[in-house]
Amino acid sequence: MSVDDIKRVINSLRELPAMPNVVTKALSVIKDPNSGARDLAKTIENDHAITAELLKIVNSPYFGLSQNIQTVGQSITLLGFNEVKSIILSCAMKPMMTTQGGKDLWEHAINTAVAAETIAKKLGRSDSDDFFAQGLMHDLGKIVFELYNRKQAYEAIRLTKSGADILMAEKMVFGFDHTEVGYILGNRWQLPKQIVSVMRHHHKPQFSEFRTSAGIIYVADRIVQDPIKNPILEPEIKIKLDFEINNIEGFRRQVLDRARMLLLNLNSL
Ligand SMILES: [Fe+2]
Ligand SMILES: [Fe+2]
Repeated sequence: MSVDDIKRVINSLRELPAMPNVVTKALSVIKDPNSGARDLAKTIENDHAITAELLKIVNSPYFGLSQNIQTVGQSITLLGFNEVKSIILSCAMKPMMTTQGGKDLWEHAINTAVAAETIAKKLGRSDSDDFFAQGLMHDLGKIVFELYNRKQAYEAIRLTKSGADILMAEKMVFGFDHTEVGYILGNRWQLPKQIVSVMRHHHKPQFSEFRTSAGIIYVADRIVQDPIKNPILEPEIKIKLDFEINNIEGFRRQVLDRARMLLLNLNSL
C-alpha cells in the first residue's frame, strides 16, 4: 500500500483517538528544568483526573516517600521532573493503549519504555530522559489494526504467534505494517520528530535519521521480549549500532522487575 492508501485507511476509521493534550504538552516542555517543570505542573493541574492519578502513584509504597504529597509541584520537587513526566505520560496514554491495543501492547510499551531509558542512562546520554516516551510510543501504529478490522487484527497476531515475522504478517493481512502507519499517525499527532522516526524505524534502526536513538529502542524492544523467539540482536544490525550491552540476561531481569512495579501501580488506578 502507498502512503496515500494508508492515509485513506486512517481517514476511514470511525474514531481515531486524539493524542491527549497533556501528552503533547509533556513532550514539548522546553529543556530548561525550572520553567519546564513549572509549565508542566500548570498543565497537569488543569487536568484533575491525571493529577489524581499522579498523586495516587507518587504516594504509593513504590516510591516509599515518608511524607504525603499533595500537589504536582511537590511531586516534581521530591521525585524529579523526569520521573513525574514519565508517570504523567503513562497515565495519559493508558486509556488509548489498553482500549485499542489491549493488555499486551500496554505492558510491552511500559517494559520497552523502562528498558530504553535504562539503556540510555547506561550509555551516559544527556538526552536519556527522552527515552521513556520513545519506548512508550514506539508501537503506537498497532492501535490502528484493532480499529480498522478486529478479525484481521487477530489473524495478524495469530500468524506472529505461530512464528511469522510481525511486519510481514501485518503486511500480508492488511497491506501495511505498524511502523508505516505509526509514522503517519505520529506526524498527524505532531509528535516530536525523534519519536516519529522511532515509530517508523525501530525494527530497522539503521534507516533512521536518529540512528542511535532508534537503535536503543530496537534493543529495548528486543530485550523485553521472549529471548528464544526474539534473539536480541541480528548480527548485521549489531555491527551498525554504536553500543553493546553486557550481561543481557541480568539486564532483562532488572528492567522487567522495575517495569512490573510501575505496571502494578498504573494498573491499580
Ligand atoms: Fe514494533
Ligand atoms: Fe515493540
